[in-house]
Amino acid sequence: MSHVSESLEESGTAPGPPAEERADLLVVEGIGVGFGGVTALRDLSFSVAEGTVHALIGPNGAGKTTAFNCITRTQRPQSGQIRYRDLSLLRVPPARLPKLGIMRTFQHPQLCPSLTVIENVLLGHHSRTEVGWLPWITRSPGARREERAATEEGYEILRALDLADLAEHEADRLPYAALKRVELARALMGRPRLLLLDEPAAGLTTEDVERFGDTLLRLNREQGITILVIEHNLTFVGRLADTVTVLVDGHVVAEGTLAEVREIPIVREAFLGKVRG
Ligand SMILES: Nc1ncnc2c1ncn2[C@@H]1O[C@H](COP(=O)(O)OP(=O)(O)OP(=O)(O)O)[C@@H](O)[C@H]1O
Ligand SMILES: [Mg+2]
Repeated sequence: MSHVSESLEESGTAPGPPAEERADLLVVEGIGVGFGGVTALRDLSFSVAEGTVHALIGPNGAGKTTAFNCITRTQRPQSGQIRYRDLSLLRVPPARLPKLGIMRTFQHPQLCPSLTVIENVLLGHHSRTEVGWLPWITRSPGARREERAATEEGYEILRALDLADLAEHEADRLPYAALKRVELARALMGRPRLLLLDEPAAGLTTEDVERFGDTLLRLNREQGITILVIEHNLTFVGRLADTVTVLVDGHVVAEGTLAEVREIPIVREAFLGKVRG
């Protein structure tokens, strides 16, 4: 059995109107990226409706992370456009993205290893406010008030993600599943409107994957956060995603619910190829 046909009964649907009736929050239009002789993305187009969970799936090397890098402005596409709300995202300075409500996690967790968990989480606050550490160091009364409020918010997020016990631990001593949750906590500290998650379930136990899925569904349903998620675990995708975009060789080959796209021969081939290869 291919991964694509696994456990699809529980396809998630966010409350409110169906995905196709919601306004687009993010529109990727005709993005092209090449690395020397390698074409990572070619004419990549897809839209993410506000308030939905949208998954990007595809075999290794399909260009999923490169697409995230373009959206988060760490990779400049050679062609195409990206619209976020009414903004042309490629014209926005990358440092402004957190302020606009765009936060991400990474395929390989990127935390500051020598900082504690709560300190790492507070970096999410600094990226959003753009104030940086300086006012905190000079410790004006206003800065102290803000520091207290942000720290309280950070602990609240850690409690919600079952990480409170680890708040004072150094990030480099954490088990892998906790690292992934701390990355999510840091992203939530930025109060995202659009949350991009690159393989959140990779390397987790079945139990941790389920727990992570519960958390993401809560964030989507209760806080209305739009989630764009890259994931190979299709049980997880089937449970969470309203819409699935399938990438093969840097190009969209299918889109729909997971139950719909899994029936398409090119999708089955791409995934069977991966299983055989
Ligand atoms: N910085 C880079 N320099 C050269 N080639 C790159 C670079 N980043 C990505 N690529 C190439 O671009 C293609 C797409 O890579 P990308 O990491 O986006 O794939 P992916 O879909 O995220 O794969 P995976 O599922 O393995 O994470 C691959 O062929 C990859 O080798
Ligand atoms: Mg990747």
